Amino acid sequence: MVKIVKADVNHVAGICDVCAKGQWATYGDIYSNEYIERIIKEYYEPERVTKEVTQTSKEWGGYFVAVENGQVIGAGGGGLTSDTVGELYVLYMDPDRRNEGVGTLLLKAITEQQKQLGAKEQWLSVQRGNMKGIPFYEAKGFQFKHEQKGYGNKEGEDYISLRYYRNI
Ligand SMILES: CC(C)(COP(=O)(O)OP(=O)(O)OC[C@H]1O[C@@H](n2cnc3c(N)ncnc32)[C@H](O)[C@@H]1OP(=O)(O)O)[C@@H](O)C(=O)NCCC(=O)NCCS
Repeated sequence: MVKIVKADVNHVAGICDVCAKGQWATYGDIYSNEYIERIIKEYYEPERVTKEVTQTSKEWGGYFVAVENGQVIGAGGGGLTSDTVGELYVLYMDPDRRNEGVGTLLLKAITEQQKQLGAKEQWLSVQRGNMKGIPFYEAKGFQFKHEQKGYGNKEGEDYISLRYYRNI
């Protein structure tokens, strides 16, 4: 049985693993290896994620994880960018466990947290061309708003993110 729980230090290794696998499976065809490696090293390494599960606030509500038999199979998290606006910062399923409805449960938990804090709308960035993410968000009622420069671009890189939002 899959459970959705607020992550703690016991989930750090699982979060790093699922998010790193998710990065390769999602962006392997559209981004350079160097870019993916850089993102994984920066965001999905134990020291940072330990802080992110122990130091939470309105701005960063911590990770939620989908756990099955003690194993993390999905992870995500968000926070508020203003009193009424939520942001989904990260959401990855184990690539072998997509399309079973579990990402929906994770998004629901993150959204409930944001609603309880007063959010009335929810935003996210998704990389242009990410067809493993965009159809999911559109199925959940998110609408495309505008393009912006991708986060973490180095000189010579021009990856583009799409901003999506929905009312919650
Ligand atoms: C995005 C992600 C977290 C969703 O989790 P998931 O467990 O696979 O999604 P679910 O099974 O809960 O839901 C799938 C939903 O998306 C819809 N969907 C998925 N692929 C679709 C497609 N190609 N076309 C139309 N709808 C699609 C399904 O219809 C379903 O909607 P419903 O619940 O209204 O029926 C997961 O697929 C993932 O890890 N993707 C790769 C990583 C990624 O892109 N993350 C986002 C980075 S910004």
